[in-house]
Amino acid sequence: MGSFRRTRGKAKEEGWRARSAFKLLQIDEEFDIFQGVKRVVDLCAAPGSWSQVLSRKLYVPAKLNPKSRDGDLPLIVAIDLQPMAPIDGVIQVQGDITNARTAEVVIKHFDGCKADLVVCDGAPDVTGLHDMDEFVQSQLILAALTIVTHVLRVGGKFIAKIFRGKDTSLLYCQLKLFFPRVTFAKPKSSRNSSIEAFAVCEDYSPPEGFNPKDLYHLLEKVGSPSGTGNLDCSSAWLEGPNKVYIPFLACGDLSGYDSDRSYPLPKQANGSYRSLDPVQPPIAPPYKTALEMKKASTGLPLDQ
Ligand SMILES: C[S@@+](CC[C@H](N)C(=O)[O-])C[C@H]1O[C@@H](n2cnc3c(N)ncnc32)[C@H](O)[C@@H]1O
Repeated sequence: MGSFRRTRGKAKEEGWRARSAFKLLQIDEEFDIFQGVKRVVDLCAAPGSWSQVLSRKLYVPAKLNPKSRDGDLPLIVAIDLQPMAPIDGVIQVQGDITNARTAEVVIKHFDGCKADLVVCDGAPDVTGLHDMDEFVQSQLILAALTIVTHVLRVGGKFIAKIFRGKDTSLLYCQLKLFFPRVTFAKPKSSRNSSIEAFAVCEDYSPPEGFNPKDLYHLLEKVGSPSGTGNLDCSSAWLEGPNKVYIPFLACGDLSGYDSDRSYPLPKQANGSYRSLDPVQPPIAPPYKTALEMKKASTGLPLDQ
């Protein structure tokens, strides 16, 4: 036991609930996504490390500024299927982002105003079947895009986790309908071995006369995921002479820690290593029932 995953330990040292925080911070280093942002939606936010980043970068500095009035404070709305422990300045909504009712609740919080930024780190329970995982992930992104078309201001930004696969070009073309600049970014803190990347979509510009009710109709014109009928995205204008080339960028300090490698543990003066507790244990983990059943059958405390 001479080493550990550096990014996880570092996340705990810095008080982040999950090491995902570094991914958003590294995307910001490259794309300056928080510039001028006052209103944000954090989709699929639990356990909350991205919301913590939003709170620390936007809410806390405004709160500490003696010139800020309550009405000037940034608005951060976070949504997840799971409940989250509170975070300073973050309004939480528990719900499913694929459900229209959840989108309505989010829109209500903006009270007619628009968001400057929508972020989505949503991930379904991964099956390991890449095509299936990529498909379910793309459905989550489309649900996020639906919310974007209702709440994002023209010129705003949208950051979404994607799984790279055979329909990546299709997703890129669909996002390009709404954003003139779309880059797929791989932060250094995202493992090389994972198919995860992030779509960084800038300068929201929906097509002229666009009605959010027509979103799916419009997206279908671009194509459908491979094998589900209509236009196969491997044909037509996504291939051949018109093939699109997706801007793909590695971001974050490339000389920094690599989340795929292990590093020696930092030792204390007595030569030992003090392991850190989780910053915020999940408040309603999906495995809670299993733990309770184990406790009932063995009489052991939940953490043994
Ligand atoms: C990788 S975690 C997000 C981590 C978070 N960004 C952070 O930094 O702490 C993915 C989250 O997506 C949520 N999720 C998956 N499908 C969802 C859905 N349909 N609606 C809302 N949340 C969903 C899960 O509950 C999970 O908390």
